[in-house]
Amino acid sequence: MSNEIEAIKDPGLPAHVHRRADTDPKAAKKAERQVAILFILSALGTVTMIGSYIFIPQDVFIFFPVLGNTNAHQLFLGLGMAASLFFIGMGAIHWAKTLMPDEEVVIQRHEFRSPDEDREDFVATAKAGAAAAGLGRRSLIKRSLGLSLGLAGLSPLILLRDLGPLPKDELSKTSWKAGTRLVTDPGDRPIRAEDLEVGAVAQTLPEITKGAERALSDIGKDAVLLIRLRPEEFNLDAERLSWTHEGIIAFSKICSHMGCAVALYEQQTKHLLCPCHQSTFDVTRAAKVIFGPAARPLPQLAITVDSEGYLVAKQPFTEPVGPSFWERSS
Ligand code: FES
Repeated sequence: MSNEIEAIKDPGLPAHVHRRADTDPKAAKKAERQVAILFILSALGTVTMIGSYIFIPQDVFIFFPVLGNTNAHQLFLGLGMAASLFFIGMGAIHWAKTLMPDEEVVIQRHEFRSPDEDREDFVATAKAGAAAAGLGRRSLIKRSLGLSLGLAGLSPLILLRDLGPLPKDELSKTSWKAGTRLVTDPGDRPIRAEDLEVGAVAQTLPEITKGAERALSDIGKDAVLLIRLRPEEFNLDAERLSWTHEGIIAFSKICSHMGCAVALYEQQTKHLLCPCHQSTFDVTRAAKVIFGPAARPLPQLAITVDSEGYLVAKQPFTEPVGPSFWERSS
């Protein structure tokens, strides 16, 4: 040992008492088998957990409650995981207590970084310790531990399934189609241009078939803000101007930064403001970002009126609504 880190027998410690496995090869072999059994039980626990996760449907129940639960999927998943962790811990403890070296030493530390010579000493000592622990010799323990740890390491992978499927292009789809009426929210009443005064703002949703339920996830994507200005107040190109109707312009309400509801409209400045991180959008310039972290304007919904004079979408959104996580690089 070096001068910096020194392992010495402490004369103050009581005399070392050898364990049976230290002196009796039969006892050592028995302890080895016991450790291996514990690791194998741990592996079986992991297999039970993975098997129940994959093969037992979530709606299967047993007749008697275990810890107040009758759901077989949850019970076997939990019991498998508990057995996996419990037995691997027990195996490690039993191994340490019966077979690993247990001589008491005192380590005297001086500096944090050891000289190279000491580091080499350390590697040699670690190797000697591993040899003394019998990892090389005790192939049964080595293999069963490898099996147990390998399977335990795999188990988090299967839980990735709980994150659900990737959204693919789902986030870019909304319920808006050509001819979909804009209705009040709440109230579901179709809206005419004359219902909105200049300076007014209203939240709208796409009309749904009578009696149908509106999915919460759709409300999140479909919400649209209608704002009425005087037509001469717009500063839009010809195409975007043709997407407005008599000074009424429609934007997705979902902030293009991180998806909060853009809920504040300043009538004087004609700015829409997102309360989450203060992104500010200029309504007169097709919701161009003039402040804050949003990287792109709020998508504009092209609108017109149908034969009965109700406001309708001219076409679906031409770009994904909401934040830029999935479909965009901006
Ligand atoms: S979510 Fe709107 S500014 Fe961040």
